[in-house]
Amino acid sequence: MSNLKTKHIVVGVSGGIAAYKIPELIRLLRKSGAEVKVTMTRNALNFVTELTLRTLSNNDVYSDVFAAINHHATEHISLPNWADLMVVAPASADVLGKMANGIADDALTTTFLATRKPVVIAPAMNDNMYRSEATQQAIQILSSRPNITMLDCAEGELACGTVGKGRMQEVQDILYAIEKALTPKTMLGQHVLITAGPTKERLDPVRYLSNDSSGKMGYALARACYNRGAIVTLISGPTALPSPIGCETIRVSSAEQMYQMVMSRQDEQNMIILCAAVADFTPTKQSASKIKKIPNQTLFSLELQTTPDIAAAVGANRREEQTLVGFALETNDAETNALHKLQNKGLDWIVLNSLENKGAGFELDTNMVTLFSNKGDRIDLPLATKEEIAEGIIDNLLRH
Ligand code: PMT
Repeated sequence: MSNLKTKHIVVGVSGGIAAYKIPELIRLLRKSGAEVKVTMTRNALNFVTELTLRTLSNNDVYSDVFAAINHHATEHISLPNWADLMVVAPASADVLGKMANGIADDALTTTFLATRKPVVIAPAMNDNMYRSEATQQAIQILSSRPNITMLDCAEGELACGTVGKGRMQEVQDILYAIEKALTPKTMLGQHVLITAGPTKERLDPVRYLSNDSSGKMGYALARACYNRGAIVTLISGPTALPSPIGCETIRVSSAEQMYQMVMSRQDEQNMIILCAAVADFTPTKQSASKIKKIPNQTLFSLELQTTPDIAAAVGANRREEQTLVGFALETNDAETNALHKLQNKGLDWIVLNSLENKGAGFELDTNMVTLFSNKGDRIDLPLATKEEIAEGIIDNLLRH
């Protein structure tokens, strides 16, 4: 989460059972490099203690407008000035109503009213309260303000025992929304297609050929583009990752399916990034039933045929103004092989990650890459998280 490094975030906590998740949000914000200060309503103190939030944020908590602990009497002004962003989570029906109507009668709502910075709001309440006219009107009023990102409530089991819409979004998704709100919209309206993950080439109903790609690198690229305002289509092989919020995610399995899907969506794209680890070979035949082991058999042969080369096909069908980016995963002669792929596949850029470098490649949370352009540029991005590498790749593609 590189764009949260050194950012100042004010976390506003109101009274709802989902407040128990806020210590984790604060922990993740600080892990991402942000500095955090907390303001909370008096009701929130019934769900999470001031001590917990003070300890995790490493800052005083502002919950009482008139408390002697306040450094001066105007925390509700100094906090918004200090902040790059305010997040209100959970936002109760009561607090939504107050924020929509300019009521400022406690530490959180006075801070909100004085805030001119981006604000992310994550409502949470009982489903009847959520569906009430008053709450819906408040949500509508707040959503129409240009500095506010209003998150939808999630559906599921609620603390009151019913099932409905009223759950607070997951903490990780609130973090993604904060990240997006703080990212300049340098790709606004651009169409970007990204492939990610492995492919599975079936031998029979229970066996397949595949590889160790987790999808982490491609999904991080999808989020980086979405945060910049791009319209993202993510074509993903089988992964365990949740679909990134805001991206159209199309799940495929085989190289052939990925090829068909990419080709059908190529024309509308401004940029295509081929990060998937696509199988180069697939069985010539797929058995309809499980292939049985024959007694005393010690050798078994498989006949394979090549799969369509998606990158090469995209390169051959390209519109001149499209930016085409491939990845190269190498184990030896890395640079030579990567440059060869850049030329052969008709790409503008190739991103080399070599398994010779510790911390780079499949499954890990980190990567280390070198970008080569067909104009002779070379950019080295040192070992960093895949999120940071994705930011670095996109920033460099936009800069050149
Ligand atoms: O998913 P992770 O666990 O986070 O790992 C990320 C990654 C290592 C998979 C990723 O960073 C990466 O390197 N992806 C490309 C892996 C690969 O297949 O490289 P390659 O050198 O075999 O292929 C070169 C390029 O051709 C790639 O852009 C690939 O998508 C493309 N290709 C390959 C074969 C094929 N039939 N069609 C293709 O389009």
